[in-house]
Amino acid sequence: MEMIGSCLSMVVIYSLYFSTNAILVHKPPIIHTNHPYLNIYENSPIGTSFVVIEASSQTNDVVTVTPHDNATAARISLVPVKVGVNSTYMALTKLIPDRETERIWYLTFQAHDSHGDTLWTLPLHIDDVNDNAPFFVHDHFHAVFGFGLTVGTKALHVTALDVDEGPNAAITYSMKPHLVTHPSSRYNAFDIDPSTGDITLKEALQHGQSVYHYQVNATDGGIPQHVASALVDISILDFGVIG
Ligand SMILES: *[C@@H]1O[C@H](CO)[C@@H](O)[C@H](O)[C@H]1NC(C)=O
Ligand SMILES: *[C@@H]1O[C@H](CO)[C@@H](O)[C@H](O)[C@H]1NC(C)=O
Ligand SMILES: *[C@@H]1O[C@H](CO)[C@@H](O)[C@H](O)[C@H]1NC(C)=O
Repeated sequence: MEMIGSCLSMVVIYSLYFSTNAILVHKPPIIHTNHPYLNIYENSPIGTSFVVIEASSQTNDVVTVTPHDNATAARISLVPVKVGVNSTYMALTKLIPDRETERIWYLTFQAHDSHGDTLWTLPLHIDDVNDNAPFFVHDHFHAVFGFGLTVGTKALHVTALDVDEGPNAAITYSMKPHLVTHPSSRYNAFDIDPSTGDITLKEALQHGQSVYHYQVNATDGGIPQHVASALVDISILDFGVIG
């Protein structure tokens, strides 16, 4: 009876000890900084500051904040402004962000004191800058038609792409005669749709001209704008004219 009693009290003391300890262990630091996400422009120089992280101890310990994983450590350095029970760190970039390579940096920071660790994950969105020019899918577009081509017919389609985003990737096409060796009026026979890149015959073909040479441009909507050029040749097989 006595033995059972002391055994029970030991169990009670034991579990009390552990539960008290467990309460102490579960008082990790608090991270006060709380953004669902933040933004930074691509090409921002190394050392750009984008957030201040504040963390405090619940147990009067010294709190430190560090990048939690290697991916975060590779991209961010944390500069301590104040380290103590309440600590403040400034987060600076260690790499130049490039939206075309990585649209979002998922960053995780860890606040640490002797009573535990707290993690905070911050998606850092990389905003677009117009740092890419459009490019045509071919340098040279070519089409061949018979003289019977009627006005309004879509003769050719040119396409340019731009890896930027939004207005920085919005392309406007333009076209004008290139390498003019014939009366210029005839060169205006074809016209381009600025938004689609469709090239159509807008006025009747005239005998005596077998190739229409044009330069086409693709211009993006960024500031400053970027331009790409390509060549368009439209050949007309005109069997109606001899000599
Ligand atoms: C993180 O970096 C450390 C030290 O540079 C290295 O030992 C470890 O293997 C890396 N971990 C991962 C998951 O890459
Ligand atoms: C830490 O910050 C809390 C809340 O702002 C404040 O009450 C406390 O006095 C600060 N402690 C120290 C050591 O600065
Ligand atoms: C294409 O762009 C170049 C350079 O900006 C310009 O000189 C040329 O006139 C443009 N051509 C067309 C068809 O818009």
